[in-house]
Amino acid sequence: MSYHLIDGRKVAEEVTTALEPRLAALRESGTNPGLAVVVVGDDPASHVYVRMKGRACERLGMASRSHALPSTTPEEELLGLIDALNEDPEVHGILCQLPLPSHIDERKVIDRIALEKDVDAFHPYNVGRMLIGDPLFLPATPAGIQHLLVTSGVELKGRHVVVLGRSNIVGKPIAAMLMQKGPGGDATVTVAHSRTRDLQGITSQADVLIAAVGIPLFVKRDMVKEGAVVIDVGTNRVDDPGTEKGYKLVGDVDFDDVKGKVSAISPSPGGVGPMTIAMLMANTVLAAEMAIGR
Ligand code: GUN
Repeated sequence: MSYHLIDGRKVAEEVTTALEPRLAALRESGTNPGLAVVVVGDDPASHVYVRMKGRACERLGMASRSHALPSTTPEEELLGLIDALNEDPEVHGILCQLPLPSHIDERKVIDRIALEKDVDAFHPYNVGRMLIGDPLFLPATPAGIQHLLVTSGVELKGRHVVVLGRSNIVGKPIAAMLMQKGPGGDATVTVAHSRTRDLQGITSQADVLIAAVGIPLFVKRDMVKEGAVVIDVGTNRVDDPGTEKGYKLVGDVDFDDVKGKVSAISPSPGGVGPMTIAMLMANTVLAAEMAIGR
């Protein structure tokens, strides 16, 4: 079977280009959207993501500010920084890169972000708005997945979507979004996870399989239905002594193993990752539009 490669880099570029007229209109009225990215500690992957988010802002001419704090930063200090960013009129979006060091209560920090600047849509208020189908912001990775599916012409209405993984960042929100009424939704969604029985029996019933488990090359050929659409959300570092960095990035899906069986596949890297960044830019533009009452 030949498959369609869902190219996240290309779709992300289209999303970003579509922001340009909105940015021009904002600038005409004297506002340049600004994103503040906070990262605590020295997790190398987090720093890579933060750099990518900053570069995406730069490319669009948006203001970006990165606050890199040491891993020993007290919780109170981080909350103080969030308070200052909440008050800063030049900052329209605030993102605190997760995970945070274990001495910091992640929930407390997310709860402190002003609702209208919560471009990650991680605040319980924004999670709730998304769940009831009346979102202020949609979380970037799930929004990117949904956009990839819709723009690739994948029918969702009445189809069986299996989500592998139940994280607050991907699994839970993408399940909620694809089951909503209306365009981009109307799917029948199953969420499977590490405690699911007969995982293979469930995944092989999926018309659309979304893998977000964080286990390198977890999804194999026998877990996929003939003709299914597969979206790989995973970005896992695995040792590779043959490379300059000593590691390479692989997804949750064993691409070479499944590619002969699927009708379409979004690979990782090169799929959902760039979409996450594009959707974050879109949320920051939206936050700036809301700030000036558009
Ligand atoms: N860690 C992994 N993904 C994300 C994300 O989308 N946003 C933030 N803030 N942290 C993350």
